[in-house]
Amino acid sequence: MVVRYGVIGCGRQAPKHISGLQADGDVEVFVADIDPAKAEVLACDLKVKSVSKVEDLIADPDIAAVSICTPPASHQALIGAVIDAGKSFLCEKPLTATLSGARSLEAAASAAGVVGMVGYIYRFAPAYKFAARALAGADMNGVGAALGNITQATFRLGGPGSHDVWQHKLASDGGAINEMLVHMIDLVLWLFGPVRECALVASEVRQKQRLIGGGTIDADAEDWTLVRMTTRTGVDILIQADLATPIFMQYAEIHGDNGSFFGSIQPEMPTFVHCHVARAGFAAGRNPHVFEPQNLFETQMGLFLDCVRGDRTLNTCTLADSVRLMETIEMLRGRAAGS
Ligand SMILES: NC(=O)c1ccc[n+]([C@@H]2O[C@H](COP(=O)([O-])OP(=O)(O)OC[C@H]3O[C@@H](n4cnc5c(N)ncnc54)[C@H](O)[C@@H]3O)[C@@H](O)[C@H]2O)c1
Repeated sequence: MVVRYGVIGCGRQAPKHISGLQADGDVEVFVADIDPAKAEVLACDLKVKSVSKVEDLIADPDIAAVSICTPPASHQALIGAVIDAGKSFLCEKPLTATLSGARSLEAAASAAGVVGMVGYIYRFAPAYKFAARALAGADMNGVGAALGNITQATFRLGGPGSHDVWQHKLASDGGAINEMLVHMIDLVLWLFGPVRECALVASEVRQKQRLIGGGTIDADAEDWTLVRMTTRTGVDILIQADLATPIFMQYAEIHGDNGSFFGSIQPEMPTFVHCHVARAGFAAGRNPHVFEPQNLFETQMGLFLDCVRGDRTLNTCTLADSVRLMETIEMLRGRAAGS
């Protein structure tokens, strides 16, 4: 069944979503942007169709589902309009900037009977699927199938930032928390279950001025964060996430009483599980996981399309997952989750 599909926002993420849609084959893609010229250029480059107004794309009754690839501050209103139009949606992370906003979108999507997914792409990465195998069960009771009783983990995600002004302004929901940290918190909640306590140990604006698009801007959103958290099962976790690392850098290390995982979304870094004792299909000693670069967006978009067609039920990157993530962010920011 051919799905007519809209992509809203024609910047950095949109071509990645479209590459995943085009790999499916049975999709007709329409793009729109607040700046119609951007939509026209992208449509021409990727051989899809452009719609001059975002509202017209949302109002088109033949478009069944949309990707939202716009900056975070626009997500709440756009998703609300998309749900009102009865369309399913895949929104880039973060779903929205507040817990109350995330809860209201989850309720609205449920009432409208549409599929809502959030683009936490790391869950589809070979390294983290491998980690999930070694950690199976740890989200329930703290004991991973291969690694045993999990004690501690460290997650790191850094990049240079300076992509666009909105990324470095609080008013546009920019900053390292929304841009980077949320990805790592999502992995923590997925692999280890709910967080009991957490603290934003550091949240700093290290580069107060940035050169973006040929001009200098004053940055007021945090670009370096350090978080410490403890899960309900007692795993001690450190996350360092920033927009102040010269090159993209991502990895995680996870330790249990039967050994360790080290891995990265970056194929050039090693990914392995080391077990003291063979367990759950992992040999004693080092179990390397070698993988070729993959287009993770093919997996992400393929899953979403299957759910839109009714062939599968969404069981990952759900709106409920994003509500739990926002509960953790609110804890970090020092606000009670119920407020
Ligand atoms: N999954 C990932 O790894 C990943 C990586 C980068 C960015 N992101 C997320 O993707 C989203 C988009 O980021 P980006 O880097 O592509 O941004 P971008 O600045 O490159 O592109 C955003 C586009 O949206 C358009 N836009 C802005 N407001 C709009 C509105 N109200 N309606 C329609 N169009 C609008 C802009 O004109 C621009 O073309 C953000 O939420 C970001 O956090 C995710």
